[in-house]
Amino acid sequence: MSAHADPDASGRFVSLRSLNDRGEAFDERDGDPGTPRLEARDIVFEYTAGTRVLDGWSAEFPAGSMSALTGPSGRGKSTLLYLLGLMLHPASGAILVDGESVAGMRDAQRARLRASRFGFVFQDAALDQTRTVIDNVTETALYRGEAKRDIRDRALELLDRFGVDVPPDRKPGQVSGGQAQRIALCRALLNAPAVLLADEPTGNLDPATSVLVVEAMRDHARTGAAVIVVTHSPEVAAACDAEIRL
Ligand SMILES: Nc1ncnc2c1ncn2[C@@H]1O[C@H](COP(=O)(O)OP(=O)(O)OP(=O)(O)O)[C@@H](O)[C@H]1O
Ligand SMILES: [Mg+2]
Repeated sequence: MSAHADPDASGRFVSLRSLNDRGEAFDERDGDPGTPRLEARDIVFEYTAGTRVLDGWSAEFPAGSMSALTGPSGRGKSTLLYLLGLMLHPASGAILVDGESVAGMRDAQRARLRASRFGFVFQDAALDQTRTVIDNVTETALYRGEAKRDIRDRALELLDRFGVDVPPDRKPGQVSGGQAQRIALCRALLNAPAVLLADEPTGNLDPATSVLVVEAMRDHARTGAAVIVVTHSPEVAAACDAEIRL
């Protein structure tokens, strides 16, 4: 794969080219091959007036690519994932999904887009503590109207693939941090999202399990998704098509 990143003088703009040259079978989500799956244009964001976390940040994330977001603690990586995941709104600038800006969308439309096209693995996993492990994994997929048995079987396969060897009817309060992260990744992958955003998904994992998780995200990118991973790990960043430093 001849992917490459071209940071500009400020190191903030990154574009990727020639990403879909392996001839993989992309699914119907593929739009115009020249249009990035996800794009950020000149994003400005501040939590409190006068303190900018992002000051004109731009990047493109093509279909079929896996990108690493790296940078020191507190620099704004999680904030950026929330913006890219349509959970926060920029003060100015635009987020485009398959070439379409979400700025003019109503909240309900944006929420639908997020539910149907986005998968999110939060830094703290954010599992529903009142539901079992298996119900956490399947909860969003069930809304999509697929057969319950099929969803459950696929969820169990994913948990097994990542070595989450806890009883599926256990509550998240009784699993480790690394297991919780993998459960959250299973939940995200089960929906086959066009955009997968993962916040330090290998942060609590041993090296062998990290490799499994990175391979799974790579496999997911090959289906035509844009995968964006926040990481402090040089190994994970090196496994990506591009590293974007904040
Ligand atoms: N809800 C919030 N309200 C106000 N400021 C916030 C909020 N969340 C984060 N910040 C601030 O915004 C900046 C960016 O935080 P963010 O969580 O995006 O960093 P990060 O790069 O993900 O850090 P880490 O590597 O530690 O996870 C930090 O200065 C942080 O203190
Ligand atoms: Mg963070």
